[in-house]
Amino acid sequence: MQSFLVGGAVRDKLLEREVHDRDWVVVGETVDSMLAAGFTQVGSDFPVFLHPKSKEEYALARTERKSGKGYTGFVVNSNPNVTLEEDLERRDLTINAMALDQNQQLFDPFNGQKDLDNRVLRHVSPAFAEDPLRVLRVARFAARYHQYGFQIAPETALLMKQMVAQGELDHLVPERVWKETSRALLENDPDIFFETLRACGALKVWFPELDILWGIPNPVQWHPEIDSGIHTMMVIQQAAKLTDNLAIRYAALVHDLGKGLTDPAQWPSHREHEELGVAPIRALSERLKVPNDCKELAIMTSEYHTHVHRALELRPATILKVLNQCDAWRKPERFKDLLTTCTADAKGRAGLEDRDYPQANFMWEAFEAANAVAVKSIIEAGAVGKNIKLRLNEKRIHAIRDFKQRYTGK
Ligand code: CTP
Repeated sequence: MQSFLVGGAVRDKLLEREVHDRDWVVVGETVDSMLAAGFTQVGSDFPVFLHPKSKEEYALARTERKSGKGYTGFVVNSNPNVTLEEDLERRDLTINAMALDQNQQLFDPFNGQKDLDNRVLRHVSPAFAEDPLRVLRVARFAARYHQYGFQIAPETALLMKQMVAQGELDHLVPERVWKETSRALLENDPDIFFETLRACGALKVWFPELDILWGIPNPVQWHPEIDSGIHTMMVIQQAAKLTDNLAIRYAALVHDLGKGLTDPAQWPSHREHEELGVAPIRALSERLKVPNDCKELAIMTSEYHTHVHRALELRPATILKVLNQCDAWRKPERFKDLLTTCTADAKGRAGLEDRDYPQANFMWEAFEAANAVAVKSIIEAGAVGKNIKLRLNEKRIHAIRDFKQRYTGK
């Protein structure tokens, strides 16, 4: 059987990156001959099989032609005459269109190796445009390989722009957009994904609430970078340095959407952007079917990030209010994630990347102090009904006040 390692595995091997999935293409076979050789068929759109031992995916070499709008609507030809080159030609990028045979011989009809060496993301053929998801894939690869110096080829950037202008991205389904977005958020340089989408116009299509932040100013004394879009990109960079937690990275991305809804007459001030941010975060999260944990942390960050930034100036009763409203008692980990997102927000500013952010620890320790108050002692002291809650709040405020005095020495 003639089988070739293809796609991401070849690319990542040549980049000396860890290979996760190994995909194979088989030439000259049929469904029947594959089944006879002990492979199990999976997938209904085109013939893909699992190897009887390794369980890796083996696909019959195929060509694809677009027959309709959107992601479905392809006519697939996988007869045994389809060549390896034809199979590689239907693929998205030259660096994804190389094959290795069993002797480790590289088959590279579209010069993927050269593009890999020159750090170029370049489409293989005009058929790239048949699949709008590829715009998001290129943006994701740009985010992942930015660390190696990859750039998008000018002709590919132009094609992506044309695809967006022709409304091709409207046909994507939210699940696919979120899948690419969530993967991109977890890459090394997630900001590059969003910058790439912005450059080709795709950000406006799927993330309009984010897209409008570019051009909205902030006060220069807090934000030397001024622009809200640039700030957002810096925050997501900082979040990527701090954590691999998807919810935190998503919350970092959308924490300032409220600035798109403040009164331009009041700019660069953004009063109440914290509350105003809730509706666009909901809209974006629901459009993309973002998981609840990401959405909830994002909304909480929008509502409370200014409180956390001002933590050391807050009265103990206000600190307690924040802890209550964030339900830190039942969800301490989520509260910690809020503090990490706020840290990214504080550091995501030009020239302030290395600043200290004592507010995060301060809020966490205030929470721990308040959380150490034992409800049992309140009940034992005779409180009943609503009074239990009242006494608990009073004692927690005392605990926060004591902690704050110890912390500040005042
Ligand atoms: N492919 C494509 N167009 C797509 C999806 C996939 O051309 N919309 C091709 C590419 O050749 C790709 C291969 O199918 O390399 C395998 O796709 P997939 O497993 O989704 O991606 P990988 O390139 O392996 O990348 P990753 O490391 O992100 O999984």
